[in-house]
Amino acid sequence: MTGGGVTDRTVSRTGARVERLPLARFTTLGVGGEAEVWSVASAAQLAEAMEQPYRVLGGGSNLVIADEGVPERVIRLAGPLAERDLTPDPGLSSADEIVTGWVGGGVPLPGLIRQLQKLGLSNLEGTVGIPAQVGGAVWMNAGTRYGEMFDGLHTIEIATPQGTVQVTPADLAWGYRDSGIPRNHVVTRVRLKLRRSTPEDVLAKMDFADQARKGQPKMKTPGCAFKNPGGVSAGRLIDEAGLKGTRIGNALIAPEHANFIVNLGGATAADVHALLDVIRGRVAVPLELEYELWPTQGQP
Ligand code: FAD
Ligand code: EPU
Repeated sequence: MTGGGVTDRTVSRTGARVERLPLARFTTLGVGGEAEVWSVASAAQLAEAMEQPYRVLGGGSNLVIADEGVPERVIRLAGPLAERDLTPDPGLSSADEIVTGWVGGGVPLPGLIRQLQKLGLSNLEGTVGIPAQVGGAVWMNAGTRYGEMFDGLHTIEIATPQGTVQVTPADLAWGYRDSGIPRNHVVTRVRLKLRRSTPEDVLAKMDFADQARKGQPKMKTPGCAFKNPGGVSAGRLIDEAGLKGTRIGNALIAPEHANFIVNLGGATAADVHALLDVIRGRVAVPLELEYELWPTQGQP
């Protein structure tokens, strides 16, 4: 890219596509102003994008982005960083278990989960219904009570400002909704560790896990607002505080499940922030935000 801001679409020194775009279109909430979006398709393009302040965008399914947008570069993984090779590695696979080739951080998780089911490969079916990309789901260790991303990881490749490293889950202090990977370290690709099963068996487990979603709203939302404190459902606590159906502007605490804030159409980030404040003010137990607010507020 040559000097100045991005007006339309341009190409960076190493070939990354750089465009000024509204971020709302990349989020499941459908909220968020403009930023300079870098679509990177190689390690060199990613390294160049990381030379200036940046944020990493996955499936945008856990983000509340300000209506003013963000001043930093927003990096999206594209090309080979959004492709998958599920071929079993002969040296690392056995009769019971396989280790795959590399799966890009930009691969959409729902399609991957369906593909693994058809191949009869188990370990990740508990994450069914999570509308993330692989990189974002690994970074958050997304999951449900039936399983999480770290159930199926063998190697994680991470681009850091100091260079690229490959780690295993044992190298990380991961837990509930937390990979232990620092913010703005980029999960570029992973190798999966999967148990050989049958398509029927994996499908049955997926369907079972999916049952838990029956009570979740089907509208524009970034998923659960708060983590479950000590294993108690934050949704239940918000519900018990009588807050279901509370509306500010065009954002609503879902009548179906109180830990979901939905966009009724035309909601702003400010509407969502105001509802989060109402919840914090009314629920006695301290709640930790699961969403990420851009620009970052009160988060490490
Ligand atoms: P984004 O929302 O784009 O980003 C979230 C964070 O991940 C940001 O900090 C971002 O910088 C970082 N990130 C993204 N990509 C990368 C990368 N490649 N490398 C490093 N960091 C990265 N979550 C659950 O855990 N369980 C559920 O059951 C669940 N259900 C949901 C249902 C719905 C309808 C919705 C909308 C969301 C749900 N979520 C759930 C929340 C969300 O899907 C997860 O938090 C998911 O991990 C977010 O991934 P993403 O790719 O969309 O990341
Ligand atoms: N409940 C209420 N009122 C509500 C919501 C829930 O009383 O408004 C009660 C339910 O009746 C149930 C209990 O709370 O008895 C648990 O509810 P649910 O089964 O919906 O699970 P949850 O703990 O609220 C978690 C995850 C979801 C995940 C589901 C299904 C968190 C914060 N939430 O919800 O993950 O999809 O289990 O496995 O861990 C997310 O993280 O974004 C997310 C959607």
